[in-house]
Amino acid sequence: MVLEAGDAAAQVSGTDPADLAWSLSHLDPAVAETAYDALGAIRRGCPVARSGELDGFVLVTGYAEIREAARSSDRFCTYVDGLGAAAVVTEMRDAVAPMFETDGDHHHQWRRLLQAFFTPAAAAAQEQYVRAVCRETLQELILHGAGDLVGAYARQVPPLVIGRVLGLAELERAWLSEHVRALYGAEALTGAQQAGRIYADFLLGLIRERRARPSGDLLSTMVNAQVDGRSAEDDELVKMTVLMVAAGHLTTADACATALLHLLQDPPLQERITAQPAAMEAFVEELVRFEPAVAATGRTVTTETHLGGMPLFPGDRLLLAWGSANRDERVFDDGDLFRLDRDHGAQQHLGWGAGEHRCLGKHLARVELRVMLTELLRALPGLRLQPGATVRRTFGVIRGVAALPVQWEHR
Ligand code: HEM
Repeated sequence: MVLEAGDAAAQVSGTDPADLAWSLSHLDPAVAETAYDALGAIRRGCPVARSGELDGFVLVTGYAEIREAARSSDRFCTYVDGLGAAAVVTEMRDAVAPMFETDGDHHHQWRRLLQAFFTPAAAAAQEQYVRAVCRETLQELILHGAGDLVGAYARQVPPLVIGRVLGLAELERAWLSEHVRALYGAEALTGAQQAGRIYADFLLGLIRERRARPSGDLLSTMVNAQVDGRSAEDDELVKMTVLMVAAGHLTTADACATALLHLLQDPPLQERITAQPAAMEAFVEELVRFEPAVAATGRTVTTETHLGGMPLFPGDRLLLAWGSANRDERVFDDGDLFRLDRDHGAQQHLGWGAGEHRCLGKHLARVELRVMLTELLRALPGLRLQPGATVRRTFGVIRGVAALPVQWEHR
């Protein structure tokens, strides 16, 4: 589906929601600019609808329906084929990642084993490191007076942090950070696959080392965990580690970029947050409701069932559009408005997911985003978009911003 940003609203309002859903692919770059107009129109007309794109899938946009699917692992499993971005590490295409792609008791056992690394206290223990990395990164930027905040900041900090959470040494973190940026920034699939193979070999080396010499870190725990009487195979562990690194860094980097865009587009809000850092927590939470970095993830139907009145059959693939749930007018007042004073206790948004697979890293993400944004606003006064800059939004599994050309007061 190709929607031009300018006349998107008119096209969306004049089209039958079922037709709109039928021609929507979340992976089409043209959808990004107007994604929430289209998803809103579909949600209001048919919160569970079929799309004919990507070999056919079921698009779930309503809050109640998404929550039901996420909480019903007896009917919908988390393993899904082909609704994410193309696999860049081709060797692990057939492997099933423990926890991320498993359900039921197997999933519970894995989650229980890893929980200790993601508690609020564990997240707080990373704060000093996050701050140090932010300051070091900003130190290099400050003198330039202008730059792209996505490439030069938002994508620099989170890979180092997830590397530290996994237990990597400083040089390994630097390697990881550089390579994941090359991997996810590659323009062509073949370039990404080549980078993916190098990345997989690097992870395999770390996994074998942890197997030979276990320590108490997260990666050792993953490598040596006994679940259902066995430890995971190499290819399962490589895929699990790739997903853990992606869960930790792509999300936070894009959430940071989206947050910065909001602040750049709303100077009074930027001033208020800069003057009152205490408002940052509310800002981050509202951002995760309004435009969650994890925009849409999949499920596969395992048994004949219904969702929102739609009959479903084993093998049907669902796409849960988390960000659409968070604007559902049946649940949220003014869901399409960003409101700093929104009471998040009154109604739980689904930006962190729901059910068994809800975000394990949300405490860490909150710390990272709060520190990244606070440090940046403190270091770069007078932050504004460069005159004439056009900003391209991204959508798909992850919602973000391609680049943010900005300038600031150069002291
Ligand atoms: C703003 C940043 C983030 C957002 C919006 C976010 C959102 C989500 C969502 C919606 C899910 C559920 C996906 C599904 O059910 O299909 C999820 C799962 C997960 N997230 Fe996050 N996340 C963020 C940051 C992080 C970070 C920093 C980590 C650290 C490693 C992390 C680790 C995970 C893991 C491990 C899962 C899978 C849990 C499971 O399958 O049981 N996330 N996240």
